[in-house]
This record gives sequence, C-alpha cells and structure tokens, in this order.
Amino acid sequence: MTANMFHGANNFQITGGQFHVNTTTTGSQPFQGPTMTYQDIKLATPAAPTFFAGRENITEEAVEKLLQKEPAHLAILGAGGMGKTALALHIIRNADVKNKFQDKIFFVPCEISVDATSLVHTVVQSLGLKVHEGKTGFEVLQTYLALAQRPILLVLDNFETPWNGTGSQTALINFVDQFAGL
Ligand SMILES: Nc1ncnc2c1ncn2[C@@H]1O[C@H](COP(=O)(O)OP(=O)(O)OP(=O)(O)O)[C@@H](O)[C@H]1O
Ligand SMILES: [Mg+2]
Repeated sequence: MTANMFHGANNFQITGGQFHVNTTTTGSQPFQGPTMTYQDIKLATPAAPTFFAGRENITEEAVEKLLQKEPAHLAILGAGGMGKTALALHIIRNADVKNKFQDKIFFVPCEISVDATSLVHTVVQSLGLKVHEGKTGFEVLQTYLALAQRPILLVLDNFETPWNGTGSQTALINFVDQFAGL
C-alpha cells in the first residue's frame, strides 16, 4: 500500500493505505450481525445521483488508482453531507472500473453494523454469500476471497459507525487488514 494524496478536490481527500474516518451521523439503526439479510443491505444502499456535478479530478485519480495492477485502498474523507457516498457511487459506475471489476463491485452500507462481527455479516450479505451450518461468516468470506478469479471492489460506506460502535476497533482493523490482503 502506498500513501497517495489526491489533489484538486474541494474539501475532499482520498488517501491510500489507511482508514481515516469522520464522525458523520446517520439515521439508520444498526442491526445485530446474524439477523442481517440481503434485503437489509439493499434497503440501506443509496442510488448514485442521476446528475453528478464536478469532482472530475478526484474521480479521475480514484479511477486511475483502481485500474492499477496492484490492489488499491482508498479512503474518502469529508464532513457530513459533503458527497462522500455520492462520489464513491460515481467512481464505481465509471466504465473502466466496471470493465475491470465487472459483477464484483460491492457496496457495503456499514452504518447498519455496530461492530466487527456485525460488519462481517454485512459484508457476507453484500456479496450475496450464504453461511451454511458449522461455518462462520468469516470463514465463508475468507474462502470466497481466496478463491476469487477476478479482482473484487468493496466499498465500505460509513465505516465510522462500527468504528465508533460497541466493539473493538482492533477487531475492525484486523478484519480490514486480513481481507484487504487476500
Ligand atoms: N457531486 C455531486 N453532484 C450531485 N449531487 C451530489 C454530489 N455530491 C453529493 N450529491 C448529493 O448530495 C447529497 C449528500 O451527498 P452524500 O450523501 O454523498 O454525502 P455524504 O458525505 O456521504 O454524507 P454523510 O456524511 O451523511 O454520509 C446526496 O443527495 C447526493 O446525491
Ligand atoms: Mg454518506
């Protein structure tokens, strides 16, 4: 992971290599992990704005980062309502990004998760995976990512909710580190 500061963006920063979070609040109620369904994910996923204005430079830089050969890790920072989610949704509908990641682009609305365990379930549901008896969500994700033939793009939106939630921040860091490395 290389540090990468994005220039030319108003009130925005995208950096690579580290998660920086803000303290945005949301109206969504966090769920407890195992009860999470695919429907919950879809109901918490916003649509990209029909008309997206500006942010050309930062979009271009983010797309370039995502198209590079090595895995890219980007963090979008900004105050509440500045357009972080809209920018992320705009970036993932870019034709070159879609061409590279195809049907492996997943939006994870983290604001419905209170901790790392719950976030694991949210990611599992976002990917449309099933957890069979005797397996944990973590194992299912591990297997899926390890066997993946194509690059996968995960957007962890509102990561600050589990980060400021009820559980261990270390567990969240470990989760992100372990899965970003697969
Ligand atoms: N560049 C843009 N062009 C058009 N509409 C935009 C743009 N950026 C944001 N919006 C709109 O502004 C509103 C707020 O944006 P958004 O939800 O992305 O902000 P946010 O930073 O993710 O907020 P929060 O911190 O609450 O999660 C949304 O309705 C979004 O569609
Ligand atoms: Mg948002």
